[in-house]
Amino acid sequence: MFKQAIASGIENKEKKLRFLDVGSGTGDGYVLLSTLFSQDSKLLSNYELDYLGIDISPQMVETARNLYGSHNNVRFECGDIRTSSFTQPFDVYLSCGVPYSHLTHEELYEALKMIVTNVCNHRSRCSVVVDVLGRYSIEWMRKWKESHWDYAMSFFESEGDQEATWMSFYSHQHLQEIMQQAANAVGCPVEKFAFFDRSIMVGRHTSTGQFNPKLPQYRNLVNSLLDPSQETELSQLIFQVELGSAPEYILDFFTQFSGWWNTLVSEATALLGESLAVEPVELPPEVQGFKAAAEKELQQIADKHQYRQNLESMLALVLRKLEITQQPGYGVGHDLFGVMWLDATGF
Ligand SMILES: C[S@@+](CC[C@H](N)C(=O)[O-])C[C@H]1O[C@@H](n2cnc3c(N)ncnc32)[C@H](O)[C@@H]1O
Repeated sequence: MFKQAIASGIENKEKKLRFLDVGSGTGDGYVLLSTLFSQDSKLLSNYELDYLGIDISPQMVETARNLYGSHNNVRFECGDIRTSSFTQPFDVYLSCGVPYSHLTHEELYEALKMIVTNVCNHRSRCSVVVDVLGRYSIEWMRKWKESHWDYAMSFFESEGDQEATWMSFYSHQHLQEIMQQAANAVGCPVEKFAFFDRSIMVGRHTSTGQFNPKLPQYRNLVNSLLDPSQETELSQLIFQVELGSAPEYILDFFTQFSGWWNTLVSEATALLGESLAVEPVELPPEVQGFKAAAEKELQQIADKHQYRQNLESMLALVLRKLEITQQPGYGVGHDLFGVMWLDATGF
């Protein structure tokens, strides 16, 4: 997704790719970008990475500066995206770790309008990546009816009072509406939009159970599949949860996705000589053939423990592939990334 977003900035003639990372925290976005550059020889040989991270928290900025502030063309500044106003041009307006969910819907609209205004002032062609919390994540099914709620809220009396942290949650339709309205308000043409869900089954609150205590701890279970020192009870991975109230297309997605997920878990279980009460469904092409491939690879392994460990890690990888390739970009994961490509060259 970041690669796609970067591709639009490549026409920039200066041979410098200029990134603004909104809500940069301790600099993880910079690490991600420099890793992308180091792995892509075309990027590395043709372009120089120029990075500015802004964050509202002085502590975060200080930590980021201590870690990466001495790198070439890397700066971290303290700033609130709600009151900032940029004057310098950027090729990609990045965000990761859901910083925009800290804003109300109205504040997001205003922040995006300010960004689009800057794009137009510079007649740039660029992309804007908006990372927010997915409204329909299974982590917080009980809250699906609301799009702005206290994320620090506790469902357990024993946890006592916590300070309120109001966060905003988005479906792709709502996010696209706000992005489009911000572009319209400035009169900037949008070339296209794209939306990506991240962490459908393995969002961190599938482990904490903070908002949905009945949910199986999928994140821990998938991590356990990858841990050679642990044996995972595969039946616990079955996705059979009662869904909250949501639009029909969201419920349809989960029905289809859970069918795929459960079929893969059941195929792995069959390779252990056990069976699960799962009605198998046809798998999408990207993960078809898992059982045959696993069977072939495992047939040489006589040691029972080794057989199981290899099978478990193959299952973890295919489940991850299922998530990545079948994410619909609806707001059904922990993160929803909205990308807006703008072309203000004729502005
Ligand atoms: C979960 S952290 C993500 C940090 C980093 N981008 C990452 O991926 O690790 C969200 C960040 O958004 C910052 N943030 C929240 N509201 C902000 C605002 N109004 N303007 C700028 N940064 C903000 C927070 O201080 C925090 O560092």
